Amino acid sequence: MSEKPFAGQTVVVTGGGTGIGRATALAFADAGAAHVIVTGRRQSRLDQIAALSPAIVKVQADVRTEEGAEQVAQAAQKHGGKVDVLVHNAGIYRQTPVGEADIQLARDMVETNIIGPVLLTKVLLPLITAPGGSIVFVSSVAGHNPEPYAAMYAVTKAGAHSLTLTWAKELANRGIRVNAVAPSAVRTEVYDANGLTPDQIDGIFKMFASNNPLGRTGVVEDVAPWILHFANPANSWVTGQILTIDGGFDLTSSSDSPYSPYTGPSEAAW
Ligand SMILES: NC(=O)c1ccc[n+]([C@@H]2O[C@H](COP(=O)([O-])OP(=O)(O)OC[C@H]3O[C@@H](n4cnc5c(N)ncnc54)[C@H](OP(=O)(O)O)[C@@H]3O)[C@@H](O)[C@H]2O)c1
Repeated sequence: MSEKPFAGQTVVVTGGGTGIGRATALAFADAGAAHVIVTGRRQSRLDQIAALSPAIVKVQADVRTEEGAEQVAQAAQKHGGKVDVLVHNAGIYRQTPVGEADIQLARDMVETNIIGPVLLTKVLLPLITAPGGSIVFVSSVAGHNPEPYAAMYAVTKAGAHSLTLTWAKELANRGIRVNAVAPSAVRTEVYDANGLTPDQIDGIFKMFASNNPLGRTGVVEDVAPWILHFANPANSWVTGQILTIDGGFDLTSSSDSPYSPYTGPSEAAW
């Protein structure tokens, strides 16, 4: 395969100022992309990544809004006039235990993790290279492996799986491929909004690591290369696939979330 498979391409990575999205955006720039449009709400994070590569185009935009989607489209018009790769990465994780689910948090997750990609894909579709374009979702093992207390997050990621499969079929006749990665625990800021201290989260990650068949949790560099593999024009006969990246976590039975700050019973009563 070419060392610069994305030469001349325009790539969009939502939520690319931090975590998995940041690593992915930088990897696309390294792999020759001419323009990597990176979105997010925090300008400081966008400024930081833009300083690392001339290919990075920062767009402060909220994925939940039509205005945000239009801003991304305008940036793509200006930088290449097309979109070769669209990575739906922006996402939030909040816990919503069944008996005390905060409905606003549930709505926020649906708006960010599902409506955001639907809105942006609709607006960018006329710009997506056809044939040859590629859409990649950053989903989660939670989309298929139940995590107690995180049902609404899981719903959004199962929804991402459905969008992947349905759009893969719907867009195949245009030659646009749609795939997803489904990682397990990767230590990023996504965990920081659930009321635990960094030390507590570190402790939980140690526990995740000890329960993982390959003996560790993930890092962003475990995930980003697979997003690039899916998007690589050389892999033009792969669509509708959801790749679990989890160190073998799926091989173990799902269990109570050691992450949860909630203590209610989650095991079946029978
Ligand atoms: N880390 C894991 O263990 C893990 C596992 C499975 C799946 N994932 C998925 O991986 C993706 C990336 O998460 P991460 O782990 O890298 O965490 P992260 O560092 O918190 O990244 C999430 C990114 O999404 C952006 N974002 C959130 N709401 C947004 C909005 N309304 N508009 C625009 N951007 C928004 C955030 O930027 P701003 O806050 O500045 O907007 C942030 O840059 C998410 O979809 C997550 O569900 C993560």
